[in-house]
Amino acid sequence: MDAIEAILTRRSTRNYRPDPVEKEKLDRILEAAVQAPSGGNNQSCHFLVIQSRDVIRKLVEMTERAFAGMEADENTYASLRHSIEASKKGGYVFCYNAPLLIAVANRKGYGNNIADCACAIENMMIAANALDLGSCWINQLRWLNEDPCLVEYLQTLGMEENERVYGAVIIGYPAGELNRSLMKQKGNKITLINE
Ligand SMILES: Cc1cc2nc3c(=O)[nH]c(=O)nc-3n(C[C@H](O)[C@H](O)[C@H](O)COP(=O)(O)O)c2cc1C
Repeated sequence: MDAIEAILTRRSTRNYRPDPVEKEKLDRILEAAVQAPSGGNNQSCHFLVIQSRDVIRKLVEMTERAFAGMEADENTYASLRHSIEASKKGGYVFCYNAPLLIAVANRKGYGNNIADCACAIENMMIAANALDLGSCWINQLRWLNEDPCLVEYLQTLGMEENERVYGAVIIGYPAGELNRSLMKQKGNKITLINE
């Protein structure tokens, strides 16, 4: 698969087989992550590569607890509102049982923290597709990146004191066929200026 095809056919996967991602493939994905561009070539992303089912389960539990304590109204961003409402009901899962979660932290207060994380996450998702793996951006840890319990727990996993999570990605083998259909366009706009 060439680079353009890997970009065009990447789609989000939300149902995974439990099989772990092989070390060779994970190494390639992490290579793609650290080769991503960064503002001023800062290279300040910190990749927390989580393959422990127990750690993922704990993060899911802590996330559910944090969302359940929040309130949403009609002005709340729809996905966040869904997370809050689902957490209040119980049984909220945001990782779709993926065997691998990579939380991307960066320096708090650094102006390009989200942009740099996004470049690295997109590189990882494209690499995953090229390696016949599914992936999906996961935003819950960013929404909750100032939650004291989650911050404390992430610090026990290696996150530095001056870092926060600005994005995350799950990766694994899809439970069914990998969806590689082209996405129907409904909102992007391109304006060509030639003269
Ligand atoms: C910044 C960002 C945040 C996202 N957060 C989530 C998320 O928390 N959970 C999820 O299932 N998908 C999430 N997605 C995936 C989008 O829903 C998905 O990319 C979009 O619907 C287009 O579908 P595609 O990825 O299959 O092309 C996120 C994507 C981006 C870029």
